[in-house]
Amino acid sequence: MSGAVSGPGDTTTSEAVVLHLPDADTTRAFGAALAGVLRPGDLVILTGDLGAGKTTLTQGIGAALNVRGQVASPTFIVAREHPPLPREDGTRGPGLVHVDAYRLGGLGELDALDLDSSLEDSVTVVEWGRGLAEALADDRLEIDLQRPRGAPSFDPGAEAEADPGAGTRTVTICAIGPRWTGVDLRALVSGR
Ligand SMILES: Nc1ncnc2c1ncn2[C@@H]1O[C@H](COP(=O)(O)OP(=O)(O)O)[C@@H](O)[C@H]1O
Ligand SMILES: [Mg+2]
Repeated sequence: MSGAVSGPGDTTTSEAVVLHLPDADTTRAFGAALAGVLRPGDLVILTGDLGAGKTTLTQGIGAALNVRGQVASPTFIVAREHPPLPREDGTRGPGLVHVDAYRLGGLGELDALDLDSSLEDSVTVVEWGRGLAEALADDRLEIDLQRPRGAPSFDPGAEAEADPGAGTRTVTICAIGPRWTGVDLRALVSGR
C-alpha cells in the first residue's frame, strides 16, 4: 500500500514513512538527520497548516547543512537564500533555498526568481499550503506535518506557561522520483 500522492509525471513513489515528533527540538533533530541524505539539487516539499512545524523542521535542516543566517518564516519574501559555510575540513555542502509557496504561484516560478544561488547546487525546501501539491518536479520528498486534531481541552491544573502550540506532530514522508530509489528513509527514521 502506498499513501503517496501520485500524478501522471510520477516515476517512483515510495511507501509512506510515518513518524511522531513530540516537541520542537525533536522536529529540529529530525530535520538535521534528514539533511544527512540531502544532496545538491534536492527538493523538499513541506505541507501542513500554519504552526504545524514546517519552519522548525527547516531550521534543523539548515543547522545540519551549516548554512549562513537564521532560518525563519520567509514572511514578506518569496525565497530566502542561505549560502553554505565552510565545514571543519574547509569543504562546503549545499546551500539552502527556503521558499514560502504561499507567495508563489507555482514551482515553475522558482526559476524566474533570479536567485543568486543555483537550485542545482542547493537544497530547496518549500513550505507549501495544504492541497497545492500538484504538478511538481518529478523528484521530490514530500513531508506532511499534522498537529493534533481538535481544540485543546481546558485544564485548570495545567502549567500556565504551557505552549499552546505544543504537541506531537504526525509526520508522513513520501519520496517520489528516481532520485530516491534505493534511499532507505525508514533507516533514517529508526536511526533517530
Ligand atoms: N512537535 C513539534 N514540532 C514542531 N513544532 C512544534 C512542536 N511542538 C510545538 N511546536 C511549536 O509549534 C510552532 C511551529 O511553528 P512553525 O515551525 O513556524 O510552523 P509552520 O512553519 O508550519 O507555520 C513553533 O512555535 C514550535 O515551537
Ligand atoms: Mg513557516
